[in-house]
Amino acid sequence: MPLRLGVLVSGSGTNLGAILAAVHAGKLDADVRVVISNKLAAGGLERARAAGVPAVAIPHAGFASRELFDEALVACLCEHDVEWVVLAGFMRVVTPVLLDAFPRRVINIHPALLPAFPGVDGPGQALAYGVKVAGCTVHLVDAGVDTGPVIAQAAVPVLEGDDRDRLAARILEQEHALLVEVIGWLSQGRLRVEDADGKRARVVIEARAR
Ligand code: GRF
Repeated sequence: MPLRLGVLVSGSGTNLGAILAAVHAGKLDADVRVVISNKLAAGGLERARAAGVPAVAIPHAGFASRELFDEALVACLCEHDVEWVVLAGFMRVVTPVLLDAFPRRVINIHPALLPAFPGVDGPGQALAYGVKVAGCTVHLVDAGVDTGPVIAQAAVPVLEGDDRDRLAARILEQEHALLVEVIGWLSQGRLRVEDADGKRARVVIEARAR
């Protein structure tokens, strides 16, 4: 059975595009049931429509609280029979309303090697700090900002002469590959979370599909 995904976007949606392309090419056993954006004009919604995927804009400004906004997200995701939620360039902090509806089934792609450089503009932070290796992270989403258990990471070199946009573009290429790879592991049932008393939860990717 293909993994039933809901993808949340705020911008151009190139990560969504990578998922849709992998599904279309038969490289990912997943079914994007719905794409939701908090922005009416998000490019990700256009990508969804072009792929024949339900595309729904739910502007966050229309809600009195983050929790009420998340209730609308959950209603739409459940209406489309979603089992895993992918934050792909989604720029809103989600609340326990969403996380409790999809316990340990919300993942996020972040353009930095967490825990370094959380929040906005990971590539810009990396360049400003002067690191020599940047990268991206796919993690389970918890109630914090970019603080959930790490699933996978990819390293990206910072090259002489890099400006923010050149580094961000190099990282973005790796984001696309990493996100598709992780969703593939989810579709094979290979993700396991170890909860040791008093320690951070740790993600294990099992060697073979269950
Ligand atoms: C990506 O770097 C993503 O990690 C960040 O927003 C950027 C654009 O993502 N959150 P996309 O092109 O909208 O998928």
